[in-house]
Order: sequence, then structure tokens, then C-alpha cells
Amino acid sequence: MNIVTVKNDMQLSDVASSQILKAIENKPDLVLGIATGGTPAGTYQQLVKKVQLKSVDLSNIKTVNLDEYVGLARDHEESYWHYLHEHLYGPLELSPDQAIIPNGLNKKLEEECVRYEQAIQQVGGVDLQILGVGRNGHIGFNEPGTSLDSKTHVVELTDSTRQANARFFEDPSEVPTRAITVGISTIMKSRSILLLASGEEKAAAVSALLSGKIDKNWPVTILNEHPDVTLVVTEDAKAEEQGHAG
Ligand code: GLP
Repeated sequence: MNIVTVKNDMQLSDVASSQILKAIENKPDLVLGIATGGTPAGTYQQLVKKVQLKSVDLSNIKTVNLDEYVGLARDHEESYWHYLHEHLYGPLELSPDQAIIPNGLNKKLEEECVRYEQAIQQVGGVDLQILGVGRNGHIGFNEPGTSLDSKTHVVELTDSTRQANARFFEDPSEVPTRAITVGISTIMKSRSILLLASGEEKAAAVSALLSGKIDKNWPVTILNEHPDVTLVVTEDAKAEEQGHAG
């Protein structure tokens, strides 16, 4: 694993956005896996600025979202569809055809998961997957204990994840209880991974990852088996003593 330690969010966003830009310049039809949440928001902001400054053509990229809440309308401010359009598609004027995103409103959720897995395969899989990490070590919405062989599936969100995400909602009771997430095995098929971790509340998850052991109860640790991962981590997220997991 390639580890880049940075002082703060600003530096994290700068490093990460430059890596994404480089990947797009190397492969103009890049399939970019999109994580949501607070951590990558600054990265997308920086990416937009850099793309505009260099007039990079993004018309051939595709984006694949990692996850989506079940039951939120697309125009709900906290849907990940809305996040994608607010952070990337709006400012970069990308075409909706370029976005592959789970439909959390599909009444037939199991069929939606199968459709989504096929949609990812149809674009040839993800070239560069951006990942954040939950404080309990989740990646996407793959909560602790998720099978390492999982494909796109429906998850019941843990209380801790719902509480962590409540900060984005006006009323904590509005946080959905379920989501669709790309599975761990699907994430592991991405050709390269850019994992972002910021803030002391991520220190336990980062420590588990850096212990080098694979532990189902810390889903992020599976990334130790991936051949091409770059971790961009703030100093405070790396502060916990090693040897947490196990
Ligand atoms: C969310 C998302 C994840 C994200 C994680 C961390 O629930 N589903 O994709 O990586 O939790 O979010 P944040 O960056 O806001 O801490």
C-alpha cells in the first residue's frame, strides 16, 4: 500500500484530486468509482477547479457510485444522486448518461442489485475507486461482518453509521435504515483504489487497516489484499497506536 500522510483536509483534497486528474489524463475514458460523505467533498471541489483550469475533456469518463440510500427521492438533498450532481455533474456539466448509480427507489431491490452489478460490468469495471471509510471501518455501506465475497446488495445500516450520518439530516430520524451498496468483492475488482481518511474519529479504522491483518469486523482491512491501493491520510487519522485489530 502506498501511504501519503498529510497535515489536513486541504492537503488531502489537493493530493487526491491531483491523482484523479492524472488518472483521467492517462485514460480519458476512465471509469471512476465515486464515494460520498464528508471526506471526499473537498477532493471533488479541487478536482472541479483543476479540470476547469486545464480544460480537461471529461466527456468520455463514466462514474459509478458506491452506494445509495433506500427510499430517498433523487432530489432529496441527502440522496447520493443529489450529492453526485451537486459536487461533480452540475459544476462540470457532465451528461446524466455518464452516471451509473443505484436506484434506491426501485421497489424490487434485489433485482436492482443484480442490474447494478451488470451495469458495472458493462462499462468494463471500475478503473479508479475512490473510497472513504466509516468510523467502524465500513467501506461503501459494507458494515462490519459483511461477507468479503459480497456483490451489490441491500444493507441494514448500523446505529453507529446512522448516527454518524445524522449530521447531514435536519432530523436524525430521517436517516434511512437501509441502503444499496456495491459489495466488497466488487470493490476489490477495481483496478486501483484511492482511500481517503481524515480526522481522529477514523483513527481506529486506519489502525486496523495498517495492522495488515484481514478482519471481517473491520471491512476496510480487506484492502490489504488489493495490489494497488493509495491511502491518503491526515496525521490525526493515523494517530492511534498500531495493533488495534485482531
Ligand atoms: C458513508 C458512506 C461511505 C463513506 C463513509 C464515511 O456512510 N456510505 O461511502 O465513505 O460513510 O463518510 P465520511 O467521509 O462523511 O466520514
